[in-house]
Amino acid sequence: MMRYSRIVPRNGDQPLYIASTAVVMAEIIKLLVCLCMLRSELKSWSLCRSALVKDIIYNPNETVRLMTPSALYAIQNNLLYLALSNLEAATFQITYQLKILSTAIFSNVLLNRRLNQNQWFALGLLMVGVTLVQITTREEEQPDMEAIKQEQNPMLGLMAVLASCISSGFAGCYFERMLKQSSTSMWMRNIQLGISALGFSIIAMVTSDFQAIWRHGGLFQGYTILTWMVISNQALGGLLVATVVKHADNILKNFATSVSIILSSIVSFYFFDFQPTVMFVLGAMLVTTATYFYGSADESHRRQLQHQQQT
Ligand code: C5P
Repeated sequence: MMRYSRIVPRNGDQPLYIASTAVVMAEIIKLLVCLCMLRSELKSWSLCRSALVKDIIYNPNETVRLMTPSALYAIQNNLLYLALSNLEAATFQITYQLKILSTAIFSNVLLNRRLNQNQWFALGLLMVGVTLVQITTREEEQPDMEAIKQEQNPMLGLMAVLASCISSGFAGCYFERMLKQSSTSMWMRNIQLGISALGFSIIAMVTSDFQAIWRHGGLFQGYTILTWMVISNQALGGLLVATVVKHADNILKNFATSVSIILSSIVSFYFFDFQPTVMFVLGAMLVTTATYFYGSADESHRRQLQHQQQT
């Protein structure tokens, strides 16, 4: 949806929406949802207000520590638009799978999570599988695609996607560490993260697009229903990421994302005109095998550790 919203043919002189404003809107929606969730957790607005005062105003250290992942996410969320505007969808999707590897490396460095050989093998299998699945689900070329391609700068797109991969792994594991090291509510952690994320994304918007926003149609120029759908998807997807990281971990999150690509392709098969190819089926089989393999390697690894602790 995100890429489609950047390249969809527009009628007449309708401008393209400004990506940095979409990032800001997604951050605002996330903060509002987190506030409502905190309220429902604490059962009253006054308790919610006291918790906010205690955890944010009287204890700003935690919010400051969360500025690192939030700055990275703000940059990453802008870089993704840059990458998607400058790369073909397939190239983007393939290179973005490198985040599976960067997440595993940062899990090791930041969370001291040691993976055994089988688990590294499963991660490699997952990368190959999801790449095969993605190559075959590339979009149909549109008649005016040539003009769009000429405006693209693939090198810039590639640098953007590689930087996003490193950011995704580091920020994800850093946030996971902070979430799991204390008993602070996940919604509070997200509010602490969201405050600086909103600040950073406003700075990014003002520094890069102030002229365009001021001179032309304001913040919401070029917005359509599709833009709002992309924004809501980004906001709710981000909160889902936080939930998965809390109850599972970042590596499992990447497995879940890969499996979801296959599930959505199966949905497309029934509802749209998606014809799976041999490569797709092979990729899907690799992803499923990798997921099973990682899970069972994880289980036996855990049993081994328990055994070592007992003896
Ligand atoms: O690709 P990746 O999984 O790194 O993307 C994570 C996304 O989730 C980012 O868009 C980030 O802004 C969002 N996120 C969030 N809240 C969190 C953690 C991640 O909104 N607590």
